[in-house]
Amino acid sequence: MNPPVLTIDGPGGAGKGTVSLQLARRLGWHYLDSGALYRLVGLAATRAGLELDDGAALAGLVSRLEFEFRPDATALRVLLYGTDVTAAIREEACARAASRLAVQADLRTVLLPLQRARARSPGLVAEGRDMGTTVFPQAPLKIFLTASIGQRARRRWLQLSAAGVDARLADILSDLGQRDARDGSRETAPLRPADDAVIIDSSDLTADEVCARILGHCKERGLTDSAGLAP
Ligand code: DC
Repeated sequence: MNPPVLTIDGPGGAGKGTVSLQLARRLGWHYLDSGALYRLVGLAATRAGLELDDGAALAGLVSRLEFEFRPDATALRVLLYGTDVTAAIREEACARAASRLAVQADLRTVLLPLQRARARSPGLVAEGRDMGTTVFPQAPLKIFLTASIGQRARRRWLQLSAAGVDARLADILSDLGQRDARDGSRETAPLRPADDAVIIDSSDLTADEVCARILGHCKERGLTDSAGLAP
């Protein structure tokens, strides 16, 4: 039988990262941050001087890409050709590059098997934009996590400020708006909830509250019981 997959899709800044890592830890499941994969390709492509609209060149780059994802309880460490790029891929420039190259259908196709290979026993928490619609359409539980754009921008600004990055709220707001528009309007795998997704608006919820709700849905569907959860 295929290992169960819990998909968590939604726009940038809705809290997918914090929530997905926490869920993977509590369930004892593997974790896939597909956005990190797109950001990684964005970083590698920029460093290699590739055009972000050259789908064939990007697909070629992916076939040579050597990377590693090392999740721990609170964060995901990312290595590219053996070098730690965890901080570099979180920069807004990298997010912009990822969103631009993500419209390329060729690229999305070569990334499919890399993502599907992460579905291993005992289960996988997969976060991104098209996990429930395209990458894991058979997933037994699909969540679409959203929040108002003002709240998402504020959260991102707080995250950046805590990391010592000097960012303007107005710039973050405008970046998020542009990415929402691009991710939602592209032809291949646009950002949208799967027909059978559970939609959660996290605008007025803490990460713990969102996790509790999702774990409730997991229990309802027989994906876990309280005894099987880490504290
Ligand atoms: O979730 P994130 O902000 O790290 O994602 C960065 C960009 O990558 C996002 O703007 C669009 C793209 N992306 C995608 O197209 N499909 C995914 N499954 C995940 C991310």
